[in-house]
Amino acid sequence: MTAEPFRIKTVEPIKKTEKAERQKWLKHARYNVFRLKAENVYIDCLTDSGTTAMSSRQWSALMMGDESYAGCRSFYTLEESAGDVFGLPYIQPTHQGRAADYIMAKIYCRPGTYAVGNMHFDTFRGSAEILGAIPVDYAIDEGMDTASGYHPFKGNIDLKKMENLISEKGAENISLVLITITCNNNGGQPVSMRNIREVSCLAGKHGIPVVIDSARMAENAYFIQQREEGYKNKSIKDITREIFTYCETATMSSKKDGLVNIGGLLLTRKEDIYSKANQLAIAHEGFSTYGGMSGRDMEALAVGLQEACEEDYLEYRIGQINYLGERLEEKGVPIVRPVGGHGVYVDGRRFFPHIPQNQFPSQRLVCALYEEAGVRAVELGACAFGTKDRETGRDIWPKIEVMRIAVSRRVYTNSHLDVIAEALGDIYQNRSKYKGMELIHEGPIVSLRHFTAGFKLL
Ligand code: F0G
Repeated sequence: MTAEPFRIKTVEPIKKTEKAERQKWLKHARYNVFRLKAENVYIDCLTDSGTTAMSSRQWSALMMGDESYAGCRSFYTLEESAGDVFGLPYIQPTHQGRAADYIMAKIYCRPGTYAVGNMHFDTFRGSAEILGAIPVDYAIDEGMDTASGYHPFKGNIDLKKMENLISEKGAENISLVLITITCNNNGGQPVSMRNIREVSCLAGKHGIPVVIDSARMAENAYFIQQREEGYKNKSIKDITREIFTYCETATMSSKKDGLVNIGGLLLTRKEDIYSKANQLAIAHEGFSTYGGMSGRDMEALAVGLQEACEEDYLEYRIGQINYLGERLEEKGVPIVRPVGGHGVYVDGRRFFPHIPQNQFPSQRLVCALYEEAGVRAVELGACAFGTKDRETGRDIWPKIEVMRIAVSRRVYTNSHLDVIAEALGDIYQNRSKYKGMELIHEGPIVSLRHFTAGFKLL
């Protein structure tokens, strides 16, 4: 038996509300939970990004922030900590992960070329598209099927698909391979060290650069330690350092495994990439030694990166997600198995088999969960991943159709998770009474529509 490897020193009150109020707020938000006021949410599982509770060590590190414009001490503290975890020599801070994504895309993605990945996160996809590159998702088939059975590394890239693209289009038309660890969009699923090595080897043979999107790299390293042969006795940092030997550049949203509320990083082993990143950061983010972060935030991140690699913490963290998965399975709720590193993903199609994908089953589930229990999750399905045919404008529906219950780091107890499991179990019992939804508003950029979409209940 283990419990949380911390005790709670500061508490933040959260508010229970009435169902009738929630129904009113949902309607006002046009059934899009991004438009709700956070204070009207009881348990917030919209995202695990930037929602971490910092430790007392991090709060005290904040006071050490050096806010000098150039050459601040806090940058060197961060450089040392990130160097220790990633083993990469050049570090450019950014204000958050998507800024690092954009700078990286600007350096690597030439117009008309392919950007291969397991499943690209939305913000990289957006950047690639703005720059005229073509993002393609090549996660293994088990990873693209939310009903598939157990596979320890559903975030792996399918080497065969990658090889076929190289021979079909020519290596010169592939701008990069981007491995996202863990793979957020298909369930927070890990990538094995073997897959990272093999992808890197195949890319290297063709002169294609490899980049790693490492928002949840410590969680991925923990899965490697637990599930992959040969890593049981390696420390988390031994594993992270090995991971990054297989890429030339990495980006990171520090709002996840950096255990901070804001910040991002671009790291590289190549001096020329660093100088380009540096110039772009100066133009868009800030001078090279702060890049959009304050000195105090860099201090907190330097501590957070170290804490995220502690095994007691990771055992608790991954164990807590697993706990929620088990509670939901006991109630028959169909989830993606095995559960990933930062949340439980409920299969919208299997939950509401009578609601077709063009009536947004997972979004309906998100609304039902808020309505019944004041819990906010997020849809990753027809709305978030749906696209349109460039020529005909016809809707293209995605393979993945889930509701993600993202669990913030060190924030909620298992009692909160019990409330979620209880509520979802009840909704599942009554699933046949729910109908679908109609999309009545979307913004001009389809890949970003889930932030602003409006719906009506059918
Ligand atoms: N890469 C991955 C894998 C992410 O999950 C995210 C953000 C980013 C990049 C962008 O980082 O938010 O710091 O700019 N994911 C959040 C989520 C928003 O809810 O999954 P950012």
